Amino acid sequence: MSVHKEIRRVTTHVLAEMKQRGEKISMLTSYDYSMAKLVDQAGIDIILVGDSASNVMAGNETTLPITLDQMIYHGKSVVRGVTRCLVVVDMPFGTYQGNSLEALNSAIKIMKITHADAVKVEGGSEVIESVRRIISAGIPVMGHLGLMPQSINKYGTYVVRAKEEEEANKLISDARLLEEAGCFAIVLEKIPASLGARVAKELKIPIIGIGAGGEVDGQVLVIHDMLGITQEFSPRFLRRYADLAGIIKGAVGHYIQDVKSRDFPNQKEQYE
Ligand code: KIV
Repeated sequence: MSVHKEIRRVTTHVLAEMKQRGEKISMLTSYDYSMAKLVDQAGIDIILVGDSASNVMAGNETTLPITLDQMIYHGKSVVRGVTRCLVVVDMPFGTYQGNSLEALNSAIKIMKITHADAVKVEGGSEVIESVRRIISAGIPVMGHLGLMPQSINKYGTYVVRAKEEEEANKLISDARLLEEAGCFAIVLEKIPASLGARVAKELKIPIIGIGAGGEVDGQVLVIHDMLGITQEFSPRFLRRYADLAGIIKGAVGHYIQDVKSRDFPNQKEQYE
């Protein structure tokens, strides 16, 4: 008897092949079972259990407060809803920057409890020892460069990164370092499109952009933003595919009206 329920179709190798044949990679965030199930059924390639959960699920201003146990809770919920796509869990702030052993222990805890496929970390040379150690334990790692929300207190602002040559050169050398260390993909956030294109061309591994232009190997968005649930956040790179805020508020308003007017429940909606 096999203990394997089902082999997921999207693996890190599949993503590498997609880049080789020029097929763009689609990635969205999700944080819970029901949404992940829909996103997976719709055919997404990668679900990122992003630490943006700190903002969109918990209402924090930054991604810094979310804890390892909270990320594990979200990761576990997402994995239960998925049968096909690759699931990547963000390592939260403070769980991998200290030293590589701490990073390894955090990554192992995420993988053991959530059953996700990979983890994501922000940073280049500063975290490279942690990246190497996690990968040496057989855990696939996705990098994240450009605007790194966990470093917001260093930047002080969410403006476009790496516009100046010095920062662009550091980004390119960090991307090379991450590839050499064995990362299977890198997210580039909010950088000039020309720089995104250059990194995607130079590196063999897939480069997934969020505000990094159209010449990278794939795109990622926060699902609450692209579905129009969050309303106050409108960066240039965000395309809204729905107005769920309007739909949800409309439906809830309708329900309230029906309850108040005694229209709900009707005869068919109650038991004899
Ligand atoms: O946490 C997140 O949602 C992310 C994406 C913006 C890439 O890291």
